[in-house]
Amino acid sequence: MKLIDSHAHMDNEAFDIDRDELFEKIEKEMDFIVNIGYDLESSKKSIEYAHKYGFVYATVGFHPDEIVGYSTEAEKELEELAKDPRVVAIGEIGLDYHWMTHPKEKQQEIFRRQLELAKRVGKPVVIHSREAMEDTLNILNEYPEIKGIFHCYPGSAETAKTLLDRFYLGIGGVLTFKNARKLVEVVKNVPMDRIILETDCPYMTPAPFRGKRNEPVYVKYVAEKIAEIKGIEFEEVAVKTNANTRKVYGISEENK
Ligand code: NI
Repeated sequence: MKLIDSHAHMDNEAFDIDRDELFEKIEKEMDFIVNIGYDLESSKKSIEYAHKYGFVYATVGFHPDEIVGYSTEAEKELEELAKDPRVVAIGEIGLDYHWMTHPKEKQQEIFRRQLELAKRVGKPVVIHSREAMEDTLNILNEYPEIKGIFHCYPGSAETAKTLLDRFYLGIGGVLTFKNARKLVEVVKNVPMDRIILETDCPYMTPAPFRGKRNEPVYVKYVAEKIAEIKGIEFEEVAVKTNANTRKVYGISEENK
């Protein structure tokens, strides 16, 4: 069964040299991918790909490291983009206290504004949270109707349990790293019906390609690792993560 990459950045310059070939490869070898926006420009690029290719869907949003361009004007434009039928979520949005490109308060304000936007357009969200779990959870608790994906899930198995009624956990290349003990525990403890596959390519490349450029087809190494950890067949990981990804993004079988 062909897999889904729920979180790719094909507009990244790392793909400038061979993007067309990679899209051909994705069409041949994968079910579909979701290209994730992180600012206005990348959101527009994502939509452009999603209109060009039936096997690409898009999200639109401002990543917490990229909120410098977030203005009332930009928000209006973002909201218009968000209404595009090929746009399946708002994201990636959230808090990043690791890079701290912008003060916490500013990040929180823009995060809330985009959660409001997601509510208005009635679409799920893709959450980016780095070294900011407590504040991320507190803000999400202000929006109990919001559902979506916790991308590159950074928390504990314990915290995961509190999220599962509303969120799917995006599991990527980190799971294959030697020091991934915490994430292995998460995967062990979270039921298969809340796990989805992602690459975050060109970043987060799984073993055996760690250190090289990541690409959507490498999501299979993550699926293999999940199968190993859970003691189930690869096929079961594929079937379940595909169903979960379709469900959270609202993409039916007939739609692709
Ligand atoms: Ni990302």
